[in-house]
Amino acid sequence: MVRLTHWINVFAMVCMVMSGMGIYNAHPILPFRFPEEMTLGGWLGGSTVWHFAVMWLFVGNGLVYLAFGTASNYLRKRMLTLRLGDLLRDLRLALAFRLRHEAYSYNAIQKAMYLGVLLLGVLMVVSGMVLWKPIQFGLLTALFGGFDFARIVHFAGMAALLGFFVVHIVMVALVPRTLLSMGFGAGHLKRRKEKSDGGAA
Ligand code: HEM
Repeated sequence: MVRLTHWINVFAMVCMVMSGMGIYNAHPILPFRFPEEMTLGGWLGGSTVWHFAVMWLFVGNGLVYLAFGTASNYLRKRMLTLRLGDLLRDLRLALAFRLRHEAYSYNAIQKAMYLGVLLLGVLMVVSGMVLWKPIQFGLLTALFGGFDFARIVHFAGMAALLGFFVVHIVMVALVPRTLLSMGFGAGHLKRRKEKSDGGAA
């Protein structure tokens, strides 16, 4: 379930980022526009339609992940065991290039990063709801300090997500077997190791 929702999320995120860039380009809040090749939809109307269609997939998939993660205890075991002391220890190990990457448990930096990106996803949904229906979700709009600020939060959230993608992809490139386990499952790696150990014996 984690692998399935992860890959659906990759597709949904790419669509949301590219269509979001298309929406931004129609009325930029910063002094630049994104190159057309980085956008989805071709024009404001097209980008908006993509954004609104894929937001259902993004939110639905996120809810499936959270429901599964809660019911199976996956989230509690894998991420909610984060402790400040462990995080400081693992940061020190990482800076000394001595941090280990295990197949069946996350180190404290991974826990912090994954929890952070989950919260970022929630922020994108909540600020997106304000941009989508600012009158109907009036209380949320007021909590964000108005539509304009929600727009800035939504945009800054995308920038933070892009920052996460870069670090995430660099880490996968440094530990390529993680890509195999996200593709075929950690059990696949274990079986391969057992086979090669058996062969060596
Ligand atoms: C990974 C998730 C998402 C990313 C990266 C993303 C990105 C963006 C970006 C960059 C914009 C343009 C901001 C601007 O300059 O005005 C935008 C607009 C918008 N987004 Fe998202 N978004 C995401 C998720 C969502 C979700 C879940 C919703 C709905 C619940 C949503 C609803 C909207 C709306 C309504 C607009 C403005 C459309 C308009 O002005 O007509 N977004 N998004």
